[in-house]
Amino acid sequence: MAGSTLEIKDLHVSVEGNEILKGVNLTIKGGEFHAIMGPNGTGKSTLASAIMGHPSYEVTKGSILLDGEEVLDMEVDERARAGLFLAMQYPSEISGVTTSDFLRSSINAIRGEGNEIPLMQFIKEMDEKLEALEIDKSMAQRYLNEGFSGGEKKRNEILQMSLLKPKIAILDEIDSGLDIDALKIVSDAINDMRSEEFGTLIITHYQRLLNYIKPDYVHVMMQGRVVKSGGPELAKRLEEEGYEWLKEELGIKDETVGQEA
Ligand SMILES: Nc1ncnc2c1ncn2[C@@H]1O[C@H](COP(=O)(O)OP(=O)(O)OP(=O)(O)O)[C@@H](O)[C@H]1O
Ligand SMILES: [Mg+2]
Repeated sequence: MAGSTLEIKDLHVSVEGNEILKGVNLTIKGGEFHAIMGPNGTGKSTLASAIMGHPSYEVTKGSILLDGEEVLDMEVDERARAGLFLAMQYPSEISGVTTSDFLRSSINAIRGEGNEIPLMQFIKEMDEKLEALEIDKSMAQRYLNEGFSGGEKKRNEILQMSLLKPKIAILDEIDSGLDIDALKIVSDAINDMRSEEFGTLIITHYQRLLNYIKPDYVHVMMQGRVVKSGGPELAKRLEEEGYEWLKEELGIKDETVGQEA
């Protein structure tokens, strides 16, 4: 089976009447690892939210196609069922729902009625992933993300991803808050997903993550657009020299959204 293709074309997104994304073009195919970098407030998380269908983000122009199907016409749950996954920059806490119940419901929502995962199989798979991610088993019985440390929340997002096995995953600052060992563990889990059936867009500020997870492509976002694309060497140069040279090259004074030229 060939992998999926997510095609983002001339995407414009507004929040409360302010245009944040101003024509994003990006294609992610199964088997490809893409990294997206860029200064704060340039629209990276907005792109992630728009892809998953967050209701506050209004798409005013453009399209998002998953294997040729218009994602913008799908509800959030349909997007997940179609194989899209988002690890959030700030995962939500859900009181009253255990992590384990949440994971099982998510898996079953994707598998669909009549095709629910057998309980024993779920427990086995969850235990395997908990072990791989070095997450304490007791965490599965705690309410989702409630009182979790920053790093625990991030590991939990990757736990979800490993169990849901999406076709295309968007990982928003999955490295933030992780200690050095956890960074390695999470990176291993992401690398384990590498196959023709899996593509990912990794949003990060730090080249360090890309030492563990080798991206095939690196993109830079400024002013709500992808302004530069390259290979891993682009991330290395940004780490060493910052963004100033790129802003000069592109004639950009203020890179944040809404500050043209
Ligand atoms: N729900 C919202 N309401 C108001 N403004 C928003 C909302 N979401 C995003 N914005 C604004 O859009 C701009 C881009 O935000 P976004 O979170 O996409 O940036 P980012 O590139 O992810 O930044 P960071 O690297 O700091 O995470 C910011 O100016 C932000 O304040
Ligand atoms: Mg962000």
